[in-house]
Amino acid sequence: MYRFRRLRRDGRIRSMMQETRLHPKDFVYPVFVIEGDNIKNPVESMPGVFQYSIDRLDEILEQVKEAGIGGVMLFGIPLHKDPQGSQAYAEDGVTQRAVRYMKEHYPEIYIVVDVCLCEYTSHGHCGMVRGEEILNDETLPFLVKMAVSLVDAGADMVAPSDMMDGRVAAIRAGLDQAGYIQTPVMAYSAKFASAYYGPFRDAAHSAPGFGDRKSYQMDPANGREALREIAADIEEGADIVMVKPALAYLDVLKEAALSCDMPLAVYNVSGEYAMVKAAAASGWIDERRIVMENLTAMKRAGAKIIITYHALDAVKWM
Ligand code: PBG
Ligand code: ZN
Repeated sequence: MYRFRRLRRDGRIRSMMQETRLHPKDFVYPVFVIEGDNIKNPVESMPGVFQYSIDRLDEILEQVKEAGIGGVMLFGIPLHKDPQGSQAYAEDGVTQRAVRYMKEHYPEIYIVVDVCLCEYTSHGHCGMVRGEEILNDETLPFLVKMAVSLVDAGADMVAPSDMMDGRVAAIRAGLDQAGYIQTPVMAYSAKFASAYYGPFRDAAHSAPGFGDRKSYQMDPANGREALREIAADIEEGADIVMVKPALAYLDVLKEAALSCDMPLAVYNVSGEYAMVKAAAASGWIDERRIVMENLTAMKRAGAKIIITYHALDAVKWM
């Protein structure tokens, strides 16, 4: 009989046999920056997550720096919204100003910016709207403007999350034309129309004013189509491709890992975080063990980068 238990006998040999080990550099921590002064608003459905005004950002950025995690993903929440999302590409937009602030005071932190219009549009959709229709090609120039303007401000990487067709190619061309040939694009490639984004839309004030996002985000039922989305983004010039959400889509992540050799990211989204926090607050689960198990599963399935609200806790627990 082969005895698997020989290599599980005590902690010393178990840790030598461990195939997947988390590291602070695996993580990207999402940060919400809100326009205004002296603001630190708790996000009710995401305990431990806050919206910060730029003058209060130090609080969270010091922790990020201390933890030594890979980087942050910035989401801006402007005061002014309009149909074109003009604050998304305004030189003095809240996100641009946050990037400049970080660049000056936290040059060691890698800055990824989410590129999407939904936090900036009055209708809350990720693109331009005509009637009830979310326009594709008309949206692309706005995404390009947003990406270039955030890189102008100092962003290190752009991450388009809008799910318009052709946006990776458009953004790549726009960055190149602006001289940013060395700025990578991390594409939200297989992004599903998921109920798991619920808490985020409170955090980022980005719920759609009418309808839903199903005409641009993917059907959760479609795994094969996800691989085509990923292949298309690679073809269009993405440097990193992402699967989102994480836990209910680890099969997609794993298949992507087997079918391409690109670096993969996974987004452990707001609803996944909220469920863990709620169960932990009720004393129904062991938060620390559940979080480490979930994050380890994401890495085991093939993620190089894990975008997670648990990042700061996870580093403490490693
Ligand atoms: C913007 C965006 C969303 C998320 C990341 N970028 C929301 C959405 O598409 O509705 C979700 C992140 C999360 O739930 O944590 N398009
Ligand atoms: Zn969006």
